[in-house]
Amino acid sequence: MLDFLQKLLRRGGSPRSPRAVALSEIRSSFEAAAGDEQHFPSTIDPRIYHVQLIARYFGDMNSRLALDAGSGKGRFARVLQDLNPQARIVTLDLALAMLAHAKAPLLPCCGTLTQYPFPDHTFDFVYATESLEHAVDIERAVAELTRVLKPGGKLVIIDKNIEHWGRLETPHWETWFDRRNMEALLARQCRHVSSDFISYWEDVPPDGLFLAWKAEK
Ligand SMILES: C[S@@+](CC[C@H](N)C(=O)[O-])C[C@H]1O[C@@H](n2cnc3c(N)ncnc32)[C@H](O)[C@@H]1O
Repeated sequence: MLDFLQKLLRRGGSPRSPRAVALSEIRSSFEAAAGDEQHFPSTIDPRIYHVQLIARYFGDMNSRLALDAGSGKGRFARVLQDLNPQARIVTLDLALAMLAHAKAPLLPCCGTLTQYPFPDHTFDFVYATESLEHAVDIERAVAELTRVLKPGGKLVIIDKNIEHWGRLETPHWETWFDRRNMEALLARQCRHVSSDFISYWEDVPPDGLFLAWKAEK
């Protein structure tokens, strides 16, 4: 598997577009943030609905290949790996200091959400939790998420609702999302697109900040 990833990575070049300037700023910010365990934790309580929702929607992930896009320290991937010991889960992130926490059997990969070093139709499952908001070129990032998903594969995006913009402090590059616009972007490549408001705990009514989009290719 590592050979497979290394071969794929060799295809990528260094970014040269003007957007690369912004990318380097975002990368430095998250390299530094990796030391802040309070705001960027390396673990998540497996009972939290954000991770439960992904686990339940994906079902049996054993012997299948999954991508955690913008994985940070891999806290979601670790829970899914524990539930599915035979799954292969690639944790992709821009920041090496974040990826340093994503230990085997997770498969860490340094890369960007807007240009994956993977061929079309690589993954059975793809998910992105609070990472798409940093992708800047959102249309391209959603196209990449769906491009690398296999036909029949399942995708989850969990991120913040534009209607609550201003509620938290955000870096200047961050984007929050309109529920229906994101559904429309996903519907370009996927079917059975749906979205729900969610909260951390299943028995606590959602306050509207977090949305979860689900789709099948
Ligand atoms: C708020 S953290 C969320 C991490 C993880 N998904 C979680 O929920 O714990 C956002 C992550 O996205 C990563 N990120 C930001 N922009 C990225 C990009 N363009 N490509 C890949 N990763 C990116 C950051 O390095 C950071 O680890």
